[in-house]
Amino acid sequence: MEKFPVIDLNPYLDCAQSGNGNEAEMQKLCLEVSRTLQETGALLVKDPRCSAQDNDRFLDMMEKYFEQTPEFKRLQERPLLHYQVGVTPEGVEVPRSLVDAEMQQNLKAMSPQNQPSTPTGPDPKWRYMWRIGPRPSNTRFKELNAEPVIPEGFPEWKETMDSWGLKMISAIEVVAEMAAIGFGLPKDAFTSLMKQGPHLLAPTGSDLHHHGQEGTVFAGYHYDLNFLTIHGRSRFPGLNIWLRNGEKVEVKVPVGCLLIQTGKQIEWLTGGECIAGMHEVVVTKRTLEAIRLASEQRRSLWRVSSTLFAHVASDAVLKPLGHFANSALAMMVRQGQGHTCSNTFFSALVQLLPCRTAVSPFSPIPPSETCCNAIKTLGQPCLCVLVNGPPISGVDRSMALQLPDKCATNFDPCNSFLPRLRLWDEWQDGHDGLA
Ligand SMILES: [Fe+2]
Repeated sequence: MEKFPVIDLNPYLDCAQSGNGNEAEMQKLCLEVSRTLQETGALLVKDPRCSAQDNDRFLDMMEKYFEQTPEFKRLQERPLLHYQVGVTPEGVEVPRSLVDAEMQQNLKAMSPQNQPSTPTGPDPKWRYMWRIGPRPSNTRFKELNAEPVIPEGFPEWKETMDSWGLKMISAIEVVAEMAAIGFGLPKDAFTSLMKQGPHLLAPTGSDLHHHGQEGTVFAGYHYDLNFLTIHGRSRFPGLNIWLRNGEKVEVKVPVGCLLIQTGKQIEWLTGGECIAGMHEVVVTKRTLEAIRLASEQRRSLWRVSSTLFAHVASDAVLKPLGHFANSALAMMVRQGQGHTCSNTFFSALVQLLPCRTAVSPFSPIPPSETCCNAIKTLGQPCLCVLVNGPPISGVDRSMALQLPDKCATNFDPCNSFLPRLRLWDEWQDGHDGLA
């Protein structure tokens, strides 16, 4: 069977609208959606509501934006708001594979043909963050009080961003419904959790004129932290994904189709049945061919990806749904729950502040007494949450792992999976779907 069949959403939409249709056929289609997500972490769909023209209109505007000077684009930069709105310049996003020593070890064990490209530094791509859809008025996780940023000279900005973003959310919702049916869950099992989620339209812009050499890594090997990610077709290929069996595959998105990828939230909700898809964006031979063609036709050499991160609502609890609660992985997590950290990721991080000098990369400074006291107060489960969590700027994971020994504290070694689950919904809210 084709690894990436294109699923036409039209029959399902028709059936949902008219209330009649071949139930067995629909069930088969839904099973194909859940199976493909489970085996590949990716899915190609065709949604009649998201046309190639819609995608082109969006890409045209974003190419025009990314072609502006860096000085102009930096007017839309909001570093104090952690880049959650406006532009993120190139060189800011750091791929996990660059800073995660454990991941680097795992990558070395992969067969050469399946190994990802090695990034040499932060990703050389720009990104724009634009919130899509409503947010809850009553929430434990208020988003940063940040106005959306609209660049000057783009009167069509808001309408173009909102309309393409909402259309892609509609496609995600249908896929989420079909996947739920395919997984044997109630059809609204996922969509009810997505309502008023912190969805983000986050297109990237990569300058192929300056960074168009084969092997350039625009997005180092990583997975996404959100529920499902969706992209319209990019004008330049270069996305590699890893199937569940570890095989690396270059994705070819046909014209008029959308690409959906699994993020970490669906992994939690399905008790690990469906895992977050690993992926990277690299300049390949096919990218070079597209660059050559675009140069001949005098088209833009900015590679735009119309990425949208769809999230589970911040107040929803992430736990395995329905029968997934009885999966072996979910059982394992429950057994580990007697030994968890009651702090949030951020409060645990604040407690570790006295150790800052001792955990910076290559630091020769031993932990101070205040740091060792902080480690003892923090406790092993919370330390493990921190070292197993997302990369922390200025903190070397292996240095942090050495702290208990250096402080003569008898901590058990960190388990790499269990402590993360409980805190996931707490810290993901402060992030944006990137990992
Ligand atoms: Fe990603």
